[in-house]
This record gives sequence, C-alpha cells and structure tokens, in this order.
Amino acid sequence: MERMLAIASRVPDHGKLTPWRFVTVAEDQRDALAEVLRKALAEEDPEATDAHFRKEDEFAHYGGTLVVLISAPVENHKIPVWEQQLSCGTVGMNLLMAAHALVYVAGWVTGWRAYSPKVNAAFCNPGERIAGFIFIGQLAPGRELQERERPQLANVWKPWQPPR
Ligand SMILES: Cc1cc2nc3c(=O)[nH]c(=O)nc-3n(C[C@H](O)[C@H](O)[C@H](O)COP(=O)(O)O)c2cc1C
Repeated sequence: MERMLAIASRVPDHGKLTPWRFVTVAEDQRDALAEVLRKALAEEDPEATDAHFRKEDEFAHYGGTLVVLISAPVENHKIPVWEQQLSCGTVGMNLLMAAHALVYVAGWVTGWRAYSPKVNAAFCNPGERIAGFIFIGQLAPGRELQERERPQLANVWKPWQPPR
C-alpha cells in the first residue's frame, strides 16, 4: 500500500499545494462504514428502498483495500481550484495505474455517497470533498475484467483550426 500511495502521490501539482490526501479504511472498519452509509441514506433519502440499503451495505463490504481519495483544495490561492482538482484526478489515475502495475486490480467508485454531506463529514475536513472510493484487490479466481467501450481516437482528436 505504501508503494502504491507513493506512486499515486507523484503527480502534476501546480504550485506544489498537494491539494489531496488519502484515507484508508481498514478491513475491521467496514461495519462502521456501513453504519455511516446507512445513517446518511436514511437521513438524506426518505424514499430509499430496502434494495438501496442493501446495496450500500454491500458497497461498504466490497473486497479489497479501500482508499478514499480526498480533494483538499487551497481556496483563495492564485492557483485556481479547478487546477487543484485536476491534480487530485491525476492522483486517482496514478493509483489505478500503480495497482495494476503491481498486478492488482482497482476500481474508482463514487455515486451518491461521494456527494452526501453526512458521508463527507465522516471523511473530510471543511472545504474538502470525496473524489472517489478506490478499491484495490485481486481478481477472484476464474473472473476476468470486463472491458468497457473506449473512445475512438478520431472522435476526440482534431488538429487545431485557428479562428479566422
Ligand atoms: C470520478 C470518477 C468516478 C467514477 N465512479 C464510478 C462509479 O461510481 N461506478 C462505476 O462503475 N465506475 C465509476 N468510474 C469509472 C471506473 O471506476 C473507472 O473507469 C475504472 O476504475 C478504471 O477502469 P477502466 O480502466 O476499466 O476504465 C468513475 C471514474 C471516475 C474518474
């Protein structure tokens, strides 16, 4: 974990502000995480169904090591918050790359819980946000990673046309 987090920390960071940090959730803290999610869901979504509560309980107990990536921008700084958030995004990508380079698998998940004020309060200081829950583990035997559709380069690449 130390190696992966060290790799993840080596990112573009305009102004050297380190506007992000990691919080790891230990294996024996998963029930406590489930309780935070349960309370947040009950309070913030009065129409939440049993299935939704079950899904959050499953989420809290997903396999692997859980790293919560926190965006911690410095407000009112000459480096815009947008650039600091971009830096945080590169940390997430680097963490995925580090995990896969070390032959683990990793997934970056958000969903309502990343935007819930109650979940936020359980992880963040004022002014911080949850950038993602990153689960790092090993593929269960016999399971393969499912590839998802990827962009066609021609759809995302155009030579610049100067304005006339
Ligand atoms: C900010 C952010 C949030 C994401 N949240 C989710 C999510 O909630 N559920 C999901 O299935 N994928 C989510 N993804 C996408 C995948 O987790 C991500 O593509 C994956 O971890 C990397 O696998 P890939 O190489 O197959 O794309 C998110 C990606 C980002 C950048």
